[in-house]
Amino acid sequence: MRKLLTSKWTKVVVFFVSSIPFVLLSWGLLRNDLGINPVETLQHTTGDWTLRFLVFTLAITPLRKTFKLPELIRFRRMLGLFAFFYVVLHFVTYLGPDQSFNFSGMWDDVAKRKFVTVGFAAFVLLIPLAITSTTGWIRRLGGKRWQALHRSIYVCAILGVIHYYWLVKSDVRKPVFYGVLVGILLLWRVWDAYIRGKGSAPSTANSRVTAV
Ligand code: HEM
Repeated sequence: MRKLLTSKWTKVVVFFVSSIPFVLLSWGLLRNDLGINPVETLQHTTGDWTLRFLVFTLAITPLRKTFKLPELIRFRRMLGLFAFFYVVLHFVTYLGPDQSFNFSGMWDDVAKRKFVTVGFAAFVLLIPLAITSTTGWIRRLGGKRWQALHRSIYVCAILGVIHYYWLVKSDVRKPVFYGVLVGILLLWRVWDAYIRGKGSAPSTANSRVTAV
């Protein structure tokens, strides 16, 4: 398992697998095969994948610690950047086909529809996280400040779930499912911090950049 997780090819595979939703959407778009409402398909698929990649990113640390697989950390940045990639596509499909690149119309909508307000807030919060995801930025900010900043990914995920919950009309099962997942990951984090606070589980050598 360790060998697999440390191989550079595993990273390449994770990259290609994470790109599959994008490739399928692009292919569907090129072939004009995205259903009767292609804009809706684009918006929904990119929104779903944003939320999934946020959950994958948040799950890395619990999995790494629970199964004692520190090598998993190698994939966290890539997964987080894929969450950002899909939210940018999600935003572009909203701004373009939905709002015709009319920024004042977009602001009116952000102010008017509360599900758009929280989605937009989550998107804005993700921007500094994507920018500062490099090792250079960890050095520049210092481990503690970098960690504190990157904990806001929990806020992004919570806002993403609220955004989803508020936009669905009747069947709330999917947003509730994501809400439960994010809730479990957040509770794990609180529990882990509590245990570490009591000193019974010393932080790992990697703790400088592994709190998210
Ligand atoms: C982290 C940020 C975000 C996440 C996690 C997210 C997630 C989602 C999800 C899961 C859906 C529903 C997909 C489905 O029905 O299967 C969705 C739909 C949508 N989102 Fe987002 N979103 C985010 C940011 C944004 C932003 C920035 C905007 C626009 C400013 C936006 C506008 C929309 C719109 C217009 C829909 C479709 C609503 C409808 O069908 O009536 N979202 N989003």
